Amino acid sequence: MKCSRCKEPAFVKIKRHNASFCESCFELFFSRQVEGAIKRYQMFGKEEKILLGASGGKDSMALWHYLQHAGYTVQAIHFDLGIGEHSSISRQIVEEFAQAHCFSLLVISVKDLLGGTIPELAKKARHRSTCSFCGLVKRYLLNRFAFEKGFTVYATGHNLDDEAATLLGNVLHWQTGYLTHQSPSLPSPHPKMLRKVKPFYTLTEEEIRIYVKLKNLPFVEDRCPLSHRAKSLDYKEVLQLLEEKSPGTKHAFLFGFLEKAKPLFPAENIVLQECQICGMPTTQTTCSFCKIMQKVRAKEENSCTS
Ligand code: FES
Ligand code: ZN
Repeated sequence: MKCSRCKEPAFVKIKRHNASFCESCFELFFSRQVEGAIKRYQMFGKEEKILLGASGGKDSMALWHYLQHAGYTVQAIHFDLGIGEHSSISRQIVEEFAQAHCFSLLVISVKDLLGGTIPELAKKARHRSTCSFCGLVKRYLLNRFAFEKGFTVYATGHNLDDEAATLLGNVLHWQTGYLTHQSPSLPSPHPKMLRKVKPFYTLTEEEIRIYVKLKNLPFVEDRCPLSHRAKSLDYKEVLQLLEEKSPGTKHAFLFGFLEKAKPLFPAENIVLQECQICGMPTTQTTCSFCKIMQKVRAKEENSCTS
């Protein structure tokens, strides 16, 4: 097998592009995909300070590594959620990686900040699911931190498989509100909220895995033990089946939506006001985070007095 570009021996075949690459041409392919995405959606420039969510998973580690080496200014942020071994291993991987490469990393420990781990707080708040509680807390803390420190853009490692699976789920249930917001770049709806971008949205999970291997990057393989088999994994499997029969299906599905169908789902006009307790944006008078923290504190007071 020869590299489609330089004719040297290839080490990988990318079926959907009908191309084989040697190591250096794969790197070129990879960087062209990412730079193309950044440019197409004007995600950020080299002068901008990018906040990057570093969970320790392969996608975020690859994005972190790529952006730093491509000359972007990155501040990585990691949430230590206190979910047993999974959290301690993730934190260790991210911290060691930052130290080894002299990358800038901020770790936010939910327990230090809020007085309890995610499972402990979710229990006190009697929230319906620990996962959705966790998502709410992370989104809130991230926006507040970014606002206080003056960040405007947040990058995540979502890839083509993630985006196509989300799209399939939204289409199957005709979640029109979610279809409006499905984009590689989400504008900020409020001065206190971040712009969110996904520079890897044109790369498949497999391509990112190749990059991670090539660069010998450490990452956490296991998913969070609290995320029961998510529906999105079923959607990924279905799409992968179609992809194997006709390479390029995932790409055509996602890009077809972004180019042709997305304009059919215009953004609704959501009015955001500032939370009466914390001042962060919300559609109600008190934001969801302050509401759940009120429940947590009430539970703590009750157990102290009883
Ligand atoms: Fe938040 Fe699993 S990562 S509950
Ligand atoms: Zn609030």
